[in-house]
Amino acid sequence: MTTADDPLGRLIPLPQCVEPGGGAPFAITPQTIIVAPEGALAMDVAAQLLTFIRRATGVAPRILVAREPAAPTNVIALALDPAASSSDEGYDLTIAPARVTLRAKTPAGLFYGVRTIRQLLPITAEYDALLYRAPPVVTLPAVHIVDAPRFEWRGAMLDVARHFFSVDEVKRYIDLISMHKINRLHLHLADDQGWRIEIPSWPDLARKGGATEVGGGLGGYYTRDQYKDLVAYAETHFVTIVPEIDMPGHTNAALASYADLNCKGTAPAPYTGTEVGFSALCVDLDVTYKFIDEVVRDIVALTPGPYFHAGGDEVKTLTPEQYRMFVERVQKIVESHGKRMVGWDEVSVATLLPTSIVQHWRPDASKQLLAGSPHLILSPADRVYLDMKYEDATLLGLNWAANIPVQRSYDWDPDTLVPGARPGSVLGVEAPIWSETLTNMRDVEYLAFPRLAAVAELAWTPQAERSWDTFKRRLGAQAPRWTALGINFFRAPEIDWAPTR
Ligand code: ACM
Repeated sequence: MTTADDPLGRLIPLPQCVEPGGGAPFAITPQTIIVAPEGALAMDVAAQLLTFIRRATGVAPRILVAREPAAPTNVIALALDPAASSSDEGYDLTIAPARVTLRAKTPAGLFYGVRTIRQLLPITAEYDALLYRAPPVVTLPAVHIVDAPRFEWRGAMLDVARHFFSVDEVKRYIDLISMHKINRLHLHLADDQGWRIEIPSWPDLARKGGATEVGGGLGGYYTRDQYKDLVAYAETHFVTIVPEIDMPGHTNAALASYADLNCKGTAPAPYTGTEVGFSALCVDLDVTYKFIDEVVRDIVALTPGPYFHAGGDEVKTLTPEQYRMFVERVQKIVESHGKRMVGWDEVSVATLLPTSIVQHWRPDASKQLLAGSPHLILSPADRVYLDMKYEDATLLGLNWAANIPVQRSYDWDPDTLVPGARPGSVLGVEAPIWSETLTNMRDVEYLAFPRLAAVAELAWTPQAERSWDTFKRRLGAQAPRWTALGINFFRAPEIDWAPTR
């Protein structure tokens, strides 16, 4: 049996604890039923499981809600149970010959347990069209899995500003990241080259600022209804959207939309190149803070998650005093709208609130300042900037931080990256993708996969359970499933990819 044929040999991220049962597998038959707890979120998770099973077997199981008596056998039982895990996102999965029991404290835990079951099903579970003549016998291997994430912040970032990505493209990315148990999608919604979200009180931001992108293409922006639709879609995948409006730098699209925001009172031309550091909001004007307050207010009104990312990176035209003052003032605005501020690691020079979060990205950022940060998200550019090339020959992407082969994304420990970091301050890891060279999802997928799977395991699996050798084998086993899903992944030559028929 090759790794790809062994269901337990293809789990990514590797669960905390996997005890193979040794006995007979659970066979899914036309009589198998799914039992699910009441509540919309849990029912949605049960419906997702139904879809995977219907695709794999050709038969849609019935779903019974939990208060109805469940047959003791031939059941896949999903249950909410406060004792199931010490983690809100954890789950406990027992697959026995007569019964599958998936217990979790919350619907999020059920969602992650169902992602694990999905990986244990044959890849026919990924195809909408039936791939066989007679319904096959589909089994799940006998096993007991106890699982919970290492970090609460398991993030991906998509830069929709340099090139715009449609609602359907972002939903596709949510599908792919959540399948790997990633739970944050940070959307970089504004930069020099484009403003990507409708702000009713400042309509020209989207109308004018949204009409450009790198290379001179048409750009685009999300209407409020579209953004709401994205947030709702993310919620059913247990992904929290983290909106970012980058400021005070990376603001040419805003400055070009409103002359009043400029110190000289005249608007610059739109910008479609890829230089950084030349733009900055006018930090001495009152209107700048009115603008920020209204933009934050309008975005926060549509954003149930507790975070607002205010950027703060690569400001080259302000004095250190102006910069610190600006960050502290923006932090207050974000707090006044009930959100926690996230900022790129430059913001660590400011006096930060205990709730604020610093996103580490510069490999040479001061470790001392980082160590003093209230909370940290780790996105070291030479490890997990997925827009970096894999190797010199990679056509897409950039290489200013490093070439990043898969092992380089995988083989490091988030708990030791910042020596002296406050205990518990590392919330987790996030893998950004900047889109200077990426114009569509096929490009994004090529740089994200396989490295996003490496980052997912880095963020989920305990450090002591991770090893490049076993990861590499499990990674090779993803090829048939990723091919079934149409993922345009890079066939990294050091990985032994399973045949994809
Ligand atoms: C960044 O890459 N400028 C955060």
